[in-house]
Amino acid sequence: MTENRIFNFNAGPSALPLTVLKEIQDSFLNFKGSGMSITEISHRSALFDEVINDTVARTRRLLNIDDKYHVLFIQGGASLQFAMIPMNFLAEGATADYVNTGTWSTKAIKEAKLLNKTVNVVASSEDKNFSYIPQNIKFSKDAAYVHITSNNTIKGTQWHEFPDTGGVPIVSDMSSDIFSRPLQMDRFGMIYAGAQKNMGPAGVCMVILRDDMLKRSEEFLQSETKSLPNMLRYNTYSSQNSMYNTPNCFGIYTIQLVLKWLEEEVGGLEKMEARNLEKGNMLYDFIDGSNFYRATAEKKSRSLMNVTFRLPSEEMEKEFISQATKNGMGGLKGHRSVGGCRASIYNATTVEAVEALIKFMKSFAMGK
Ligand SMILES: Cc1ncc(COP(=O)(O)O)c(C=O)c1O
Repeated sequence: MTENRIFNFNAGPSALPLTVLKEIQDSFLNFKGSGMSITEISHRSALFDEVINDTVARTRRLLNIDDKYHVLFIQGGASLQFAMIPMNFLAEGATADYVNTGTWSTKAIKEAKLLNKTVNVVASSEDKNFSYIPQNIKFSKDAAYVHITSNNTIKGTQWHEFPDTGGVPIVSDMSSDIFSRPLQMDRFGMIYAGAQKNMGPAGVCMVILRDDMLKRSEEFLQSETKSLPNMLRYNTYSSQNSMYNTPNCFGIYTIQLVLKWLEEEVGGLEKMEARNLEKGNMLYDFIDGSNFYRATAEKKSRSLMNVTFRLPSEEMEKEFISQATKNGMGGLKGHRSVGGCRASIYNATTVEAVEALIKFMKSFAMGK
């Protein structure tokens, strides 16, 4: 391992590409000859304009979208989006469909209900402890949007094919799998993701919003007697290049470098997907072939980002995590709400890290 760094399997914040961290380090004291760091320059400067505009351009190139989609940077994490979505898109009398596939979808549903909005939970995998992605869902024809969570970070499940919603725009929380694979973007009215897994540090959420959705929210907000505060409206961000107030400059700069890495080193999202498949298949194949470890998600729904598994007993899981730490592998503890083990193998996790993990898992099992 390089420079005393460990193999990082954290669920988020999580591993970032080493080249990105080094570039930040190298440019930190004197950003582009300014004599200041990125955290000291003005967000109204030409230097920062270049950062944010390049980040948006790279997002568009990677996802193959044009300016019909607005790329916004909003603070408050993905969790604020749980509230902003119904606030901006659900006029009085309008309804939305939600699919409940775990903790984060449950939170999104709760926030919408808290705002007294009408939401239909059209499908849920709660009956089997959220271990699968529901299929053959009947969506409402007149819903304003269908909300899904594309990757369920805690339960280790992922949508591998997006549902046919009969033309109703999909709004997806992609916090834990954005930029992990190519997307057919015309299916989505909006996608959003907290940066701290596949993009950068915590403190900034990327929102990609289709123009018709933005227009819809503007019309709805104009017709409402009670207006929303500026910071909670999407058009505040879209009309001012995400700089109505001071954005998270450092976070956006890191995202820029991660996207540069994705374009220039990895070679785009098809290549990223191939690498993610290689890592995921390697780990799941090993787990399936062992009679010691057990994967918790149903095969067809397994996540390529968060591999959740159990050992024969909780004591062994504790020992496994502690020995892994001693062997230079961090972040393998399952989410506190579910226990067990979880290896998060996001974009920046290398094949070498997964191979090292499998080697360790083999030797741990042999010793039992
Ligand atoms: C799928 C998903 N959605 C939402 C969140 C919450 O994100 P934030 O902490 O940025 O609000 C997380 C955090 O782990 C997540 O994994």
